[in-house]
Amino acid sequence: MEKKLKLLTYGCQMNVADSERMAGLLRQIGYGLTDDADDADLILINTCCVRATAEDKVFGQIGRFKALKRLKPNLILGVTGCMAQKEGANLIKRAPHVDFVLGTGQSSEVARVVRSLELERRHIVDTSNVSGEIPSEVFPLRGGSVSTFVPIMYGCNNFCTYCIVPHVRGRERSRPPEEIFAEVRQAVAEGFKEITLLGQNVNSYAGGMTFAELLTACDKLGVERVRFMTSHPKDLSDALIAAIADGQNICEHIHLPVQHGSNEILRRMNRGYTVEKYLRLVEKIRAAIPHVSLTTDLIVGFPGETDDDFSATLNFLREVKFDAAFTFIYSKRSGTPAATFPNQIDDETKHRRLAELMNVQNEISLAKNSALVDTAVDVLVEGASKTDEKIFTGRTRSNKLVLFTHGSERAGDIVRVKITHAQTFLLKGDIIRT
Ligand code: SAH
Ligand code: SF4
Ligand code: F3S
Repeated sequence: MEKKLKLLTYGCQMNVADSERMAGLLRQIGYGLTDDADDADLILINTCCVRATAEDKVFGQIGRFKALKRLKPNLILGVTGCMAQKEGANLIKRAPHVDFVLGTGQSSEVARVVRSLELERRHIVDTSNVSGEIPSEVFPLRGGSVSTFVPIMYGCNNFCTYCIVPHVRGRERSRPPEEIFAEVRQAVAEGFKEITLLGQNVNSYAGGMTFAELLTACDKLGVERVRFMTSHPKDLSDALIAAIADGQNICEHIHLPVQHGSNEILRRMNRGYTVEKYLRLVEKIRAAIPHVSLTTDLIVGFPGETDDDFSATLNFLREVKFDAAFTFIYSKRSGTPAATFPNQIDDETKHRRLAELMNVQNEISLAKNSALVDTAVDVLVEGASKTDEKIFTGRTRSNKLVLFTHGSERAGDIVRVKITHAQTFLLKGDIIRT
């Protein structure tokens, strides 16, 4: 009889991709996926530690499985991913019902560890190899059916002063192009229409060709839509802009995290660019790629952020007019330089600034979306909406969510939609029948 795996994934797309790889490895030793934790023989929690809130969620989840473990002593509970890498044996000290902890460099060991626990119960902790070799020959068990992720590199060398990722993901390692192409071809053969190439900073891809060359090559593999993330502004090349402009199926969307609108804060964040340099980059991108959509990440409440620094971020937003922005409250991560910077900002100020920032950006997002009313866009159909079977959802090439009335379309189709309504976070429209 098939054994059952319940997989819980927190954090970014990279973790989703890692979870699919672990599920692929565990399938080889007889585990099939289940949605129901009560039904599972093995529960894996793949964790994130980028902000304290992410860690709190994981601790809550681990706690919730304590009673289940008591009821089912043979259940195996494992913690993997970034928080596992950061906390290691502490996790077991705090929650002894956790059976194993595997760091980010050890995720390909998951099947071996589970097998050994099936034979003999004990605690296993392995976080020894944060910059470990990337395993090849792993066949991910992909979730979804339309859109999927292909990691092209692991780790980060940038050491932004607020960020834990380089500490828990190790140094940059790029996968060889042939391996990436093989994985893209396989995903296409499985029926996926959209591929997102993943890395903490795809622009520093170094697998024997540049990222621009890799992206152009992936454009020729029969994928309907090619995306990528994330791009660090300090490394985005003219060649990449040209590759997007000249590409066939490369989507006109760049996620380009700016983090802040004040040069002094950018310097203390160790971001490697100024506001002026970023603005010039935006100008160059917009000149070369008509209808490009730009999104960003922003942090409020970085240590030492004055009212003037914060106003600089608001003005910056009004100037650039991003299509959307992900906004975060600065979270102190011990072990990172910014955690010991003077003038940490109090919670109330952080929350007030976040609310103000979101207000400004929401207005801009709505204006950007409103400009699309009465235009026609290509939408990749994702499926029925969760609330109404007659309403379908999909995304534009610019990655905007569109709701439309369902006809005979199916997930994976590309349809032409006339936009009739705009909201801050989505568009609504009608299919244009031809
Ligand atoms: N490698 C990507 C994203 C990594 S984490 C990049 O550099 O763009 C995703 C986002 O989380 C970052 O862009 C940043 O805005 C945010 N982030 C990272 N560390 C944080 C911290 N300590 N507190 C709050 N937000 C943080
Ligand atoms: Fe973190 Fe900076 Fe690396 Fe992004 S580039 S993962 S923000 S250190
Ligand atoms: Fe991603 Fe969180 Fe790790 S954002 S890289 S899962 S710390």
